[in-house]
Amino acid sequence: MSVRVGVLASGSGTNLQALIDAELSPAELSCVVCNVPGAKALSRAEAAGLPAELIDHKAYPSRTAFEDAVVARLRAHGVEWVVLAGFMRILGAPLLSAFPDRILNIHPSLLPAFPGLDAQGQAHAAGVCISGCTVHLIDAGCDTGPILAQAAVPRLPGDSRDELQRRILAQEHRLLPAVVRAAAEGRIHLLDGRWRIEAPPAEGCAALINPEAAP
Ligand code: GRF
Repeated sequence: MSVRVGVLASGSGTNLQALIDAELSPAELSCVVCNVPGAKALSRAEAAGLPAELIDHKAYPSRTAFEDAVVARLRAHGVEWVVLAGFMRILGAPLLSAFPDRILNIHPSLLPAFPGLDAQGQAHAAGVCISGCTVHLIDAGCDTGPILAQAAVPRLPGDSRDELQRRILAQEHRLLPAVVRAAAEGRIHLLDGRWRIEAPPAEGCAALINPEAAP
């Protein structure tokens, strides 16, 4: 029995591509919603034969109206889990209440460090030795939801911001599919007040998974 996953994206969609290319079973990608006309994520979805829906937030009078439209499309595709793969909007009540504790986000830093825009640039400017990426559940804040899994990436001597971004992105492409699969396998639980993955994603993960999630 597959678990239907909807992906929201705004940009180049390399994380979407990683999901398309990964072995996600029992997760099944059922649709891609993109809010930016012409975004590469849309053509990636179409090339993969996935239903691709453009819902331009600029065409709606409010965030609520935009999200109502997104929820309607996700529901039409029978979506059970939502994955934000480079979706550049903070979520509001319609999406949060339609999919409570069922929305995953990938962020290019080791949260809670460097939330918000240009996390890689923030990390580079701060001169950290280690950065990485985080998959977390979405809440009403900006990159504040419960952390599920992380992969660490060193900032090497002489790294430019873009080089750091490139190496973080490579780990995003491994971490996100692994967590999506874990979600579909029913391995994401609230235990003793903390969200965790029951067992770390089997493969496709960089060295570091949230220690809370490790066996
Ligand atoms: C990724 O770095 C992701 O972590 C962040 O936005 C970027 C999206 O990249 N939220 P892509 O569209 O998946 O290529």
